[in-house]
Amino acid sequence: MKKLILILCLCIINNCLAQISIIPEPTFTKILKGNFVCGTKIITVTGNTARAKEIANSFKTTLPNNNKIGYINCKPCKINFVETPLNTATEEYYSLDIKDGIITIKGDAKGLFYGMQTLTQIFEQCHVNDTENNNWRLPNLKITDNPKFKYRGMHLDVCRHFFTVDEVKKYIDYLARYKFNTFHWHLTEDQGWRIEIKKYPLLTQVGAFRDSTIIGKYPGTGYDGIKYGGFYTQAQIKEVVAYAANKMITIIPEIEMPGHSCAALASYSNLGCTGTNYKVQGTWGVFNDVYCAGKDSTFEFLQNVLDEVCDLFPGKYIHIGGDECPKESWKNCAYCKARIKKNNLKNEHELQSYFIQRIEKYLNKKGKSIIGWDEILEGGIAPNATIMSWRGEEGGIEAVKQKHDAIMTPGGFCYFDHSQIKNDDSLTIGGFTNVQKVFAYNPIPAKLGNNAAFILGAQANVWTEYITNFSKVEYQIFPRMLALSEVLWHRQNQLNNPLKFEQFYKKIETEFIHLDSKNISHLPLAKIEK
Ligand code: ACM
Ligand code: ZN
Repeated sequence: MKKLILILCLCIINNCLAQISIIPEPTFTKILKGNFVCGTKIITVTGNTARAKEIANSFKTTLPNNNKIGYINCKPCKINFVETPLNTATEEYYSLDIKDGIITIKGDAKGLFYGMQTLTQIFEQCHVNDTENNNWRLPNLKITDNPKFKYRGMHLDVCRHFFTVDEVKKYIDYLARYKFNTFHWHLTEDQGWRIEIKKYPLLTQVGAFRDSTIIGKYPGTGYDGIKYGGFYTQAQIKEVVAYAANKMITIIPEIEMPGHSCAALASYSNLGCTGTNYKVQGTWGVFNDVYCAGKDSTFEFLQNVLDEVCDLFPGKYIHIGGDECPKESWKNCAYCKARIKKNNLKNEHELQSYFIQRIEKYLNKKGKSIIGWDEILEGGIAPNATIMSWRGEEGGIEAVKQKHDAIMTPGGFCYFDHSQIKNDDSLTIGGFTNVQKVFAYNPIPAKLGNNAAFILGAQANVWTEYITNFSKVEYQIFPRMLALSEVLWHRQNQLNNPLKFEQFYKKIETEFIHLDSKNISHLPLAKIEK
């Protein structure tokens, strides 16, 4: 009788045998004939190299940790992570074979990690929901998989509102689950400087805190009068960088210049053109107070800051901002005017270009490359810069024409601070970008033709003027981040037979079960039009 109940359970609950929902969709999946049951106690997980063993152990920790026995007729199930030599042609590639109790994941270090993400989603869906035991009924299957784009990014602004180390780690967990490989950490702003710089302690003693924040939607109904802020120590930054690296995620720090720099100016007023009356801003928008481009001391400061930043972040790229820099203070500054004259610059746009090129040269010498928002095209692009195209796709297209790399983050598709529902009456920055729009996005503009290789990929930006807590960050990214992962990993890989939105909607439904089980916020399913 007991046996009969168990068998009945297995049949009723397990629906993953016919269909498995993996986000992002693997390039090739085939469900094969046959299935088997395995239980926690009889799973062995191994790896053939130190890294493969590490991944094997980390997979093991995702399994329920208890001593409940599996079914008497469970197969002894073996999971083998097999690291294969790195081959640049197949970087991030993995294969996953599940066959009669033997599960084999093959790939390079990155591929193995992505294989583990896929296997984790399979295990979640194939769990047999029996309170007595931890068992999985797994179908035999074969997956081969690799991403379309090499840059798969998510950005987070921790300046307009601050998020703790634990919250940032959670964010990184989300990136890892959906096979993103880049976290763009927006660390400095008008409203707060968030990274400890040992040489300039005032940046965090003064620049990390504002006196007050506007109430409601800009321009607001007044100020709340509450001191607000926070920053990451260098020890915390190192901890987060290592945490991300373990999940195959590179962090790109953004140190904004020459604009969006009020918090730095409030800390060290000599960095501005006038040298007085600077403050850490408590309202949103674009401010005329920017770094003085005429004083050499500005560059000395920034180079010292960047020295410490480069030591903390081992990745190739440093994002130097470059967006929304008003030129008013430069027009009235003797130092800036003298710089323009001495260097035969035509105007303030060329002065901005001078600024960025000087910083680029410094960073290139240190072995780093710069990324800048598309405004750095104005006045002439720095010779080796990568453009992050946010004011539509035109900046990216222009960069590619000039044989520069570009990353697409156009507002209409990739700004996750926008509302995701029509006529939204909640407090957001405005704009409307729903999950359908994100899902349909193609980061390669049709007119690029053979130059498409200069498009490294795409990224979603999460600006946090109106995102005051981490639960709202989650709400803003889910399900749009799932759609972007499909765009970057799968969809454009399969232009002949891409996933359709109706199929993707079903996968969102399944994924929401997982998010709900972890108390992760998301847009309610009822608000997503099929
Ligand atoms: C931006 O949204 N200002 C890059
Ligand atoms: Zn100046």
